[in-house]
Amino acid sequence: QQPPDLLTVMATSIVDDTPVSGTLLLLLLLCILLITTLCLANASHIPGPFFWAGLGPILSYSRFIWSGIGTACNYYNKRYGSMVRVWINGEETLILSKSSAVYHVLKSAHYIARFASKQGLQCIGMDGRGIIFNSDIPLWKKVRTYFAKALTGPGLQRTVGICVSATDRHLERLQEMTDPTGHVDVLNLLRCIVVDISNKLFLRVPLNGQKNVLTMTVILFRRLVSSKELQDVMESLIETKRRIISESETLDDDLDFTSELIFAQNHGELSADDVRQCVLEMVIAAPDTLSISLFFMLMLLKQNPEMEIRIVEEISTLIDKYLTVVDFQNFRVLESFINESMRFHPVVDFTMRKALEDDVIDGTKISKGTNIILNIGLMHKTEFFPKPNEFSLENFDKTVPSRFFQPFGCGPRSCVGKHIAMMMMKAVLVTLLSRYSVCPRHGNTLSSIRQTNNLSQQPVEDEQSLAMRFIPRQMTTT
Ligand code: HEM
Ligand SMILES: *[C@@H]1O[C@H](CO)[C@@H](O)[C@H](O)[C@H]1NC(C)=O
Ligand SMILES: *[C@@H]1O[C@H](CO)[C@@H](O)[C@H](O)[C@H]1NC(C)=O
Ligand SMILES: *[C@@H]1O[C@H](CO)[C@@H](O)[C@H](O)[C@H]1NC(C)=O
Repeated sequence: QQPPDLLTVMATSIVDDTPVSGTLLLLLLLCILLITTLCLANASHIPGPFFWAGLGPILSYSRFIWSGIGTACNYYNKRYGSMVRVWINGEETLILSKSSAVYHVLKSAHYIARFASKQGLQCIGMDGRGIIFNSDIPLWKKVRTYFAKALTGPGLQRTVGICVSATDRHLERLQEMTDPTGHVDVLNLLRCIVVDISNKLFLRVPLNGQKNVLTMTVILFRRLVSSKELQDVMESLIETKRRIISESETLDDDLDFTSELIFAQNHGELSADDVRQCVLEMVIAAPDTLSISLFFMLMLLKQNPEMEIRIVEEISTLIDKYLTVVDFQNFRVLESFINESMRFHPVVDFTMRKALEDDVIDGTKISKGTNIILNIGLMHKTEFFPKPNEFSLENFDKTVPSRFFQPFGCGPRSCVGKHIAMMMMKAVLVTLLSRYSVCPRHGNTLSSIRQTNNLSQQPVEDEQSLAMRFIPRQMTTT
């Protein structure tokens, strides 16, 4: 059994509504559906499965549970077209995969809320708190400014150095993570690196050299021992941080994210619960997305040796021999490779929104309150790209107009970490690839390892799939 992680947990929260027994839930659902029948008589001009006296919503709901959200979205878009109406929890939900519609929603201020089940979110502390699934718009706006400040501008400058040294440090200790057969659980390694980076950037609490507390935090979260326990761990880390702040003589001129939030709380702008949830989401955001993205990239690199040669060549011409701060603007091949990886095999391939106003999308009336899933992953495989179903750098030879490529979304509710994420991926890849080439166990490829696509695409975590050998590389730098 694979332990669930943040994203699957969110899937749970969206799909599993209550701990009530199945029959009760079914009855409840039927009641809701009966009431909605009247309205539906009018609204069903959008293609989608039939209502069938309430059976349709139950069937589509089951499909979301059994095949996973991502897989179900792809099924419905392929079957009914780029705009399809389904039901999740009895609520009308549109799945959009056409770039014009997706772009409209991304850019608009009418879709800045998300949808998910209240109970599920309460379970993981995300209901009306934090940023990722927070639909309390005034509070979301307030906390988003703190995230934006930490993830853009001057904060970005420190990122490269921190990423390079964190990656180096973990590579120095590779021996400790190598099993007797000479393999490393590469996803675990990447997670440790990314957690280390997140801590250094946003929290800056010494982790005492003992077993990395934050890695444990993440693992705890993944296994969902209990959200309460996780929040307690977070609380104690923030407590330590408060002590560090009060004991320090001088005020740092570049305040980190956690300090900013603590000061905001001291000024009565945020509650202690807000602070804890925001720090928690900031610290898990990167380990949950970036490390899996990097894992996919290492797999794809191994499957495309000619690309690896080009990337390594580019690194050796652009990097100085101390591996110090380099201008990543110039890494064209690496950037195309990262983009193509996120297009071809994304971790996050859809995002959830809610219509806050009546609107018209591509000529179709959308009523206020409609749930919306943007199926960005499918959009990337059906429009614009010359080789949509192949992994090829040719897909990024020509400048891609932004409406066709949106791995992080755009507009007011986009990924607030998109710039730093690109920077981090480049820094980690450059550092890692200039020292090692990797080789998956048993010639594993992305298509041979088991994966799930529930709220995100990710590998099923058995040792076989994740193990790679690290082969030292001699790199000539100019
Ligand atoms: C490869 C890495 C990443 C990918 C593919 C990714 C992708 C996404 C996507 C698609 C969304 C939803 C956007 C929307 O609804 O339009 C999102 C939201 C978000 N991401 Fe990322 N992300 C990545 C890395 C990061 C990192 C490193 C951070 C922070 C350190 C981060 C923080 C967030 C936050 C806080 C949100 C919620 C924003 C909001 O609701 O206002 N992400 N991300
Ligand atoms: C998707 O997530 C839900 C909730 O955790 C779970 O019940 C379901 O089995 C998952 N589906 C797949 C295909 O993994
Ligand atoms: C049904 O649609 C018509 C025309 O689009 C509209 O005038 C009417 O108000 C709608 N009725 C309901 C119950 O939504
Ligand atoms: C990669 O994608 C980003 C958008 O996420 C875009 O701004 C950038 O130009 C792309 N880079 C290349 C080399 O195509």
